[in-house]
Amino acid sequence: MPSKIKISPSILSANFSKLGDEVQLLDKAGADYIHVDVMDGHFVPNITIGPDVIRNLRPLTKKIFDVHLMISPVDKYIEEFANAGSDIITFHPEATPDTKKTIKLIKKYNKKVGISLKPKSKIESILDHLESIDLILVMSVEPGFGGQKFMPEVLKKIKSLNQIIKDKNLKIDLEVDGGINFENCRDAKEAGANVLVSGSTIFKENNQDLKKNINLLRTS
Ligand code: DX5
Ligand code: ZN
Repeated sequence: MPSKIKISPSILSANFSKLGDEVQLLDKAGADYIHVDVMDGHFVPNITIGPDVIRNLRPLTKKIFDVHLMISPVDKYIEEFANAGSDIITFHPEATPDTKKTIKLIKKYNKKVGISLKPKSKIESILDHLESIDLILVMSVEPGFGGQKFMPEVLKKIKSLNQIIKDKNLKIDLEVDGGINFENCRDAKEAGANVLVSGSTIFKENNQDLKKNINLLRTS
């Protein structure tokens, strides 16, 4: 039985002058997760938000905070993001000298662990860690900005990861992130993704009808 499709709207595309209201609107619109893109201007050429923003957003919703750390170094910030109220903490293996140690650190704070693969990152770089993580975030754009074009070449990677997860009977969310729209979401789901991240499609399409856009991604 294919796992339920979950939608994780990225607040990178939200109106930063009223993030709290936007998160509550996403909650009411039926988001499963809230995707929080953290960028440090070092690991990626953009700067967004830090743990204090998450701390302030936490009391506004019970939805899962799906925190995508595009920062390096990453270990020294795990405690802060955990204590701020993150539920899933996802990092890039290129951002740490020791992936095993970073996974252990996230688990120390009882948070779910995600590993993110950039479009050019190889599956081989995470195979040793699959038994100890909860989510794989496959990027379908180069990390750093919302509104980019989906890179269809990552569908092959999603298919291979889905097969590995099935063969090893692992309980891992397979999340795709970047350029997702009402057409390519079908390909991503067919390839095996069960969590779809979307910023611009959810916040911009159908006159910003968040509920309609979330449902369209879930059911298209
Ligand atoms: C890019 C981020 C993505 C991005 C998704 O570095 O990780 O989550 O915000 O936004 P869209 O859906 O507009 O590509
Ligand atoms: Zn992201």
